[in-house]
Amino acid sequence: MGLRQRLTDRLVANNNNRTSYTCNAVVTGAGSGIGRAYALELAHRGGAVVCADINLKAAAETVAMIEASAAPAKGGKAWATRCDVSKLTQVEKLAKDAEKFFGGPASLVINNAGIGTGGDVVGDTSMADWKATIDVNLWGVINGCHVFAPRLRRLGRGGIINVCSTAGFSAAPLMSAYNVSKAGALALSETLAAEMAGSGVAVSALCPTFVKTNIVSDGLIAGQNAGIANRAVALTGRSPAKIVKQSLDALDHQQLYVVPQIEAKLIWNIKRHAPNAYLTGTRLMARLADRRKPAAANVPTDNTVVNLSQTKTRAKAAS
Ligand SMILES: NC(=O)c1ccc[n+]([C@@H]2O[C@H](COP(=O)([O-])OP(=O)(O)OC[C@H]3O[C@@H](n4cnc5c(N)ncnc54)[C@H](O)[C@@H]3O)[C@@H](O)[C@H]2O)c1
Repeated sequence: MGLRQRLTDRLVANNNNRTSYTCNAVVTGAGSGIGRAYALELAHRGGAVVCADINLKAAAETVAMIEASAAPAKGGKAWATRCDVSKLTQVEKLAKDAEKFFGGPASLVINNAGIGTGGDVVGDTSMADWKATIDVNLWGVINGCHVFAPRLRRLGRGGIINVCSTAGFSAAPLMSAYNVSKAGALALSETLAAEMAGSGVAVSALCPTFVKTNIVSDGLIAGQNAGIANRAVALTGRSPAKIVKQSLDALDHQQLYVVPQIEAKLIWNIKRHAPNAYLTGTRLMARLADRRKPAAANVPTDNTVVNLSQTKTRAKAAS
């Protein structure tokens, strides 16, 4: 046997021992952005992928992309289903439907579905925005872990990736609800990683900064801050495909914290080693944001913004 063949065989053998290769994966929020990138990459790694999203049409588009790609030749296949991750009964049904599709239990679960919110200080952030954010970004991850963790423990191998965010530890102003939801998802991932010790199940928390997705355009970000966030994503955002590959490789190496971008690593380190200097920085950011506010007469009321955004989100979800 030639050297090349031996190397290929070893690579395949190694990959077969990795959680992210030839797995049975459930990806939530698989109709767009990071979730779609996970679904595509996992199918290319030879996996069977359940693409779950509140927007069934978008999830079906992801499946069509997988079917039209080189993934089926590598053993990859996919199926789309509607699931609102904020509803426990729907996540329970997702687990049962996924088992039917796989012909066995899921071995990798990616709690990715989320919405972007922000733009107002605490007190001006509407309770509707608080609720929507916590329902999807935190309860969605809680429901996913509650339903799938016991199944994975019984399986004795596999993994869970919770898509958190740098927001979970950066405490950036005007993002209170989003920050709280992601801090909760991060704490849950850390706890689960400890509880899964010796179970054969790996847990990762992905904490990116900006990634080029639809998170701002489809989210509930108020006023001019949506424009600023959109520009930040366009200028500094990484490609979801790159972030996802890094995240899956990190899971295969049993890494809990996955902080893929340099600016995220900087925030992580400065906050840990110089917390007071970091606080000064966030205070400065808050004051700058306050000075950028347009005159009150030009600003739509909080309710107007939320109602318009929610109408848009609901319309998309229903389609
Ligand atoms: N894009 C970024 O810059 C960034 C940075 C850090 C973390 N994140 C996180 O990444 C995750 C994915 O976001 P994205 O950037 O790909 O955004 P996206 O808007 O492109 O995709 C989000 C997907 O989640 C789905 N979704 C929304 N609510 C849902 C629900 N209740 N149930 C099921 N599906 C639902 C949407 O339909 C959409 O397909 C989110 O958790 C987000 O908070 C994103």
